[in-house]
Amino acid sequence: MSRLVWDLPVRVMHWALALATAGAWLTQNLEGDWFRWHSWCGYAVLVLVLTRIAWGFVGTRHARFTAFVRGPRAALRYLRGLVRGDAPAHAGHNPLGAWMVVVLLALLLVQAVTGLFANDQIMNTGPLFGYVTGARSDALSRLHASLVNWILAAVLLHVLAVFAYLAGKRTDLITPMFTGRKSEAAVPPQEAIRASRTWLALLIAALIAGALAWLVSHAPEATLSLF
Ligand code: HEM
Ligand code: HEM
Repeated sequence: MSRLVWDLPVRVMHWALALATAGAWLTQNLEGDWFRWHSWCGYAVLVLVLTRIAWGFVGTRHARFTAFVRGPRAALRYLRGLVRGDAPAHAGHNPLGAWMVVVLLALLLVQAVTGLFANDQIMNTGPLFGYVTGARSDALSRLHASLVNWILAAVLLHVLAVFAYLAGKRTDLITPMFTGRKSEAAVPPQEAIRASRTWLALLIAALIAGALAWLVSHAPEATLSLF
């Protein structure tokens, strides 16, 4: 028997975020009309990250930040436990993994927001480019270009950690990110969640996507010749 830990929105958001981030990375240097794909992937990242952050406040038990974000001391204690081989099991994120979740979400948020104002000095601009001066856009573009290296490093570390659990601790964290379920032994009954509340996540995502669409469609026209 197994118990539900990750609600459906957490799972869908996770894999969609991984795909959209990979998509934004792969489309970074496309020219002309093709650049649209980069924007679409970036918009998807932005909507997903903002929805996940909102879900961290109103989502189900293990999705909430209060359920898994712990101070550095708890993370260090957990790390020491990992090294000694007696780290306690956690139904949701462990205190160390929690930091990775926060770092990934923060990096992706800044990356997507800077993209909205970025320009490539030739023809591609983010949709909100018209709101800022050329110099400010250039600075945000530089941040957009360099932050991506930190994102790559964080994703690599994240995936390595997940596989280290599989190989070193014989703990499969990946299957539960698809099914939402962990074994009874790993989840005390009072820690299982009952339902996903998917409709609420859909509503939040729709509101955020609507706000972004409004913002983009009402932005001043972006003309690179301005500077
Ligand atoms: C660009 C790629 C990726 C990004 C941005 C990313 C991001 C994240 C985030 C934000 C979470 C927290 C989930 C939540 O609480 O909502 C998470 C958890 C997780 N991710 Fe990823 N992820 C990526 C790729 C992957 C890949 C390729 C795998 C599998 C090999 C993976 C496996 C997992 C697992 C197993 C968890 C749950 C960890 C736990 O049990 O504490 N991720 N990831
Ligand atoms: C997680 C999401 C994103 C990732 C990983 C990403 C990644 C990148 C990368 C690697 C570059 C090339 C930078 C360079 O070396 O010059 C780039 C350029 C660019 N991106 Fe994004 N991006 C994301 C989101 C967005 C969004 C939401 C927009 C706006 C709709 C956007 C607009 C741009 C623009 C205008 C450029 C050209 C500026 C430049 O070349 O510096 N990006 N992006």
